[in-house]
Amino acid sequence: MGALIILTILTAYLFGSISSAVLICKLFKLPDPRTTGSHNPGATNVYRIGGKLPAALTLFFDVLKGMIPVWGAYFLGIEPFYLGLIGVATCLGHIYPLYFRFKGGKAVATALGAMFPVASEMALLLILTWLLVFRISKVSSLAAIITVSLAPFYAYWIKPQYTVPTIMISVLIMWRHQSNIARLRAGSETPIKRR
Ligand code: G3P
Repeated sequence: MGALIILTILTAYLFGSISSAVLICKLFKLPDPRTTGSHNPGATNVYRIGGKLPAALTLFFDVLKGMIPVWGAYFLGIEPFYLGLIGVATCLGHIYPLYFRFKGGKAVATALGAMFPVASEMALLLILTWLLVFRISKVSSLAAIITVSLAPFYAYWIKPQYTVPTIMISVLIMWRHQSNIARLRAGSETPIKRR
């Protein structure tokens, strides 16, 4: 691996480590999302804590931080396999953030952002899938779990060169939804709603 690729992977991890949810909750003087609601620093939990505007900003910045490293690397001419790894590194940053004692989120929005620059059709299909499941179930975690389970198949179909990194990201996101899966199985998962 060349020095440029290592540098872009490290940069991607550092970008991913910026926790939009924690910073936006601080800005809006809301409780820390890591200690309130589902304890997840993500847009869904920020919505529970503070409503639409802080949640929309969290979503926007989580998607943006996923996009920037992959976009940058794409313009530097880095090949698809490493672009995929850069996407994985950004998600790892979100999940285990360097600046927030490695206590991060579930990387759904960040993964979506990482896909946009290189696989926008796939990202749009994933958004449609999420929206469809969410419209039916009103449960954000279920929408994410189903969407993420389908992502490797979408990748294989639309962007086969990104199948391996998509599988890696999907496994990471599923792993981070363990508590949601347990609550869904027990019938006690929290629907998206404000406190
Ligand atoms: O994207 C995160 C979502 O799938 C679950 O969030 O707060 O309900 O655990 P939460």
